[in-house]
Amino acid sequence: NNILFVASECTPFIKTGGLADVVGSLPQALRQYEKQEVRVILPLYDEMDEEWKDQLEYLCSFDVQLGWRTQEAHLFTLTYNKIIYYFISNDYYFTRKGIYGYYDDGERFVFFSHAVIESLKYIDYKPQVLHGHDWQTGIAIALANILQPVENMKTIFTIHNIKYQGVMPLDIYEDFFRLGREHISGLEWDGMLNCLKSALFHADKITTVSPSYADEIKDPYYSEGLHPMLLNRADDLVGVINGIDTREYNPSSDPSIFMNYRSARSKKRENRMHLQQQIGLSYKEDSPLYVIITRLVEQKGLHLVQHILDEFLNQDIQFIVLGTGEKEFEGYFADIAYRYPEKAAALLTFDEGLARQLYASADFFLMPSKFEPCGLSQLIALQYKTVPIVRETGGLKDTIHPYNELTGDGNGFSFTNYNAHDLLNVLNYSLEIFNNPSEWQQLLKNVNKSQFSWKDSAHQYVTIYESLLPELVYG
Ligand code: GLC
Repeated sequence: NNILFVASECTPFIKTGGLADVVGSLPQALRQYEKQEVRVILPLYDEMDEEWKDQLEYLCSFDVQLGWRTQEAHLFTLTYNKIIYYFISNDYYFTRKGIYGYYDDGERFVFFSHAVIESLKYIDYKPQVLHGHDWQTGIAIALANILQPVENMKTIFTIHNIKYQGVMPLDIYEDFFRLGREHISGLEWDGMLNCLKSALFHADKITTVSPSYADEIKDPYYSEGLHPMLLNRADDLVGVINGIDTREYNPSSDPSIFMNYRSARSKKRENRMHLQQQIGLSYKEDSPLYVIITRLVEQKGLHLVQHILDEFLNQDIQFIVLGTGEKEFEGYFADIAYRYPEKAAALLTFDEGLARQLYASADFFLMPSKFEPCGLSQLIALQYKTVPIVRETGGLKDTIHPYNELTGDGNGFSFTNYNAHDLLNVLNYSLEIFNNPSEWQQLLKNVNKSQFSWKDSAHQYVTIYESLLPELVYG
């Protein structure tokens, strides 16, 4: 099957978050299944490393009609790990610093979406399924359905985060679309042009990145206003849990950590000693290390942490946070590190190598998100034999099961309500288990066995693609 992924980011070329990891690793996983030929189309950002830009091969240039004006697009390609990637560049929209964060981001991705549809005329590949990811590609899904650029092409749209929808004033419709007025209602929500909603309206199939999140977004608490749309499309909505690339995140071969290991705690300790020396936090043999590795934004449950961290730091523990983000949280963690120089450190930077050293060093990984469509970090933590502590929401709920002393089951700790003292209770409980050698050994054994590779999930995507292409199954 020919499947064309459309997305705004993809490892190893350009990344701001988990979306890039999924768009980077899922095609590789699908490649293991016979008959799946996945290609990926992306914007070409100036921000991309020269290493990749040097490998681009120019294909062609073409005009993209946006309402009453035109913009020129240039199409490039490269092949990486046997997957073919296309890149669309435009001198006005995609030659800026960074990736997102411009007042006209909506417009930029409306252009990108139009250009994707137009590019189908020029690439030597007929997708049977166009698979869009997140709001930046919503208009491509809508246009695919309205304009039918390739005969019988079906569409899938995956929601990685419903909070970001690509919302703009409706005036943009006249300026950016050459469609009759009858198409407005499919693209409009609450009086605004809404890219994500456009895809929910037009896609043949909708997926999201965990079964629990698929349920949650039908409820106003999580839906960011779109639950009526999702209830409407409930029959076509499924949750497929993300995997991670288990070769990429592997403590027995990861070159960025100090000492490679399979499961031995002693080697984790070596990593930790080395790391703490490097960052100037004195190492305390008997105190477990709790870490947070994340973008410092509200979604990640940091308000809960703020409420109770002082109290938890009274215990015999150490704590390190790694990440950048909102000033409020950066300031808070800097202050914690200042007030607890023996116990805490704040690494307010985004550094992949340092992140891996932290995963390799920590005993516990904390992720009390307010909402979490899937979450990849808790899966990476498991790979590095670090015990996740999470709130039971979205993908966190589907991947981390609370340790149960009676049955000996479970691969982490969790709490239900978005409440700071529930978090504190579970932190204290985790410390109790840590200090009980037989329980702790049992928990680590379970963690060792937990793996979330792409294998099963990629197979679920294959099944979904085939359900859209019945002629292949029966014909
Ligand atoms: C978004 C979500 C995260 C998910 C990722 C990849 O970043 O917030 O939960 O893991 O997309 O699907």
